[in-house]
Amino acid sequence: MLPVQLIRKKRDGGALDDAELRQFVEWVTTASIPDYQIAAMLMAVFFRGMDDRELATWADAMTRSGDVIDLSSIPRAKIDKHSTGGVGDKISIPLAPAVAACGVAVPMVSGRGLGHTGGTLDKLESIPGFRVDLPVERFRELVGELGVCLIGQTARIAPADKKLYALRDVTGTVESLPLIASSIMSKKLAEGIDGLVIDCKVGAGAFMKTIERARQLCALMRTIATRAGKTITCVLTDMEAPIGRTIGNALEIRESIEVLKGGGPVDTRELTHVLGAEMLVLGGAARDPAEGVAKIEKALSDGSALEVFRKVVAAQGGDPRVCDSPGSVLPKPRSRDELGLTPGRIVAIDSELLGIAALVLGAGRRTAEDKIDPSAGLVVDAYLGEVIEAGGPPSVMLQHSLPAGDSRLAEARAMIERAFVIQPADQPAPAHLAGKSSRILEVLR
Ligand code: URA
Repeated sequence: MLPVQLIRKKRDGGALDDAELRQFVEWVTTASIPDYQIAAMLMAVFFRGMDDRELATWADAMTRSGDVIDLSSIPRAKIDKHSTGGVGDKISIPLAPAVAACGVAVPMVSGRGLGHTGGTLDKLESIPGFRVDLPVERFRELVGELGVCLIGQTARIAPADKKLYALRDVTGTVESLPLIASSIMSKKLAEGIDGLVIDCKVGAGAFMKTIERARQLCALMRTIATRAGKTITCVLTDMEAPIGRTIGNALEIRESIEVLKGGGPVDTRELTHVLGAEMLVLGGAARDPAEGVAKIEKALSDGSALEVFRKVVAAQGGDPRVCDSPGSVLPKPRSRDELGLTPGRIVAIDSELLGIAALVLGAGRRTAEDKIDPSAGLVVDAYLGEVIEAGGPPSVMLQHSLPAGDSRLAEARAMIERAFVIQPADQPAPAHLAGKSSRILEVLR
């Protein structure tokens, strides 16, 4: 079998057989074919797609390109959640301990932030001492003992994806639904889970700009999960505004702890309740979503979720006092600058721009090598649909440690001002905002 034969077959619209797909992924994993042949195949898949069998085999080969963590010794159901990426998306942090407190184990392998969306690992690392690079053996122990552990992707989890993703990034083939679905699912299936809840973000600030495309992606992920013998629920959620009121690593830990204490912003709580409920249903700990929501709410209000989080922080090397007084444990910025927005009703928010503004202040990376400032970010006290009163409190707080007069400050301020579309408060609210109070668009079970 020659790589070029397989590339031609896919280019001409043929279906690759299982042996051909597995062979190609093996060539990728062992670096035994040149990048230009891999890139040519990716472009052929981009234009020709894959049928369900091809997709499932390709994803399975990617999953098995590295270690598949064996968690079969843990008797509890093992369910994870994956988000396709949002600005201010800290949901994993309150969610995983809450679900574990309700009896379902959460083996969570998370990513770092790149570009305008943050990463769970960076947020956790803002807790002094917290380590996300635990060996797999310790990961397994903690999932067994505490019901949850949060680590980073190791080089041995789905290495084929690492190679393919890097090439997709530079060859214009990231936006292929079968390639996205197999990329996400290969990493999740390698975690040794029984089931998965996908939080598929939809909207201007998300990877999936329309609900139709989000549905198509979810259908492909379902094909992969089902053929691998795993259960899956996809929740389509609105990403037209940042999640919660904070963007930035330590700030988001603080907000997550509020949720773990039964408080926090309404949308952040709602996402935690709904995603958690679906995880409990998949894990057999709730009969239906309503019972799941009630159990998650209870775990958050009675302190049991916070107790799990406290143990996780301590077991992963972090300072557990963060649960009691986050302000004294988390890193502090050198400056807090206020920014008032024009009075009026907020009718649109460009969350991507806010994510980039936080990045410019130091909260994110432009390249994988950049160092982040864990204390940097934004506190956004301005929700979609809200009215900003003249002379009212400032709407956005910029936290940073940049020197006064640094051009990045002016750059971030200009972006924040551009991110809000504000209309006079006496004009009627646009129809799309009327009655909008939930971020949940659809649940696909
Ligand atoms: N996230 C992934 O892990 N892979 C993709 O291809 C896109 C988003």
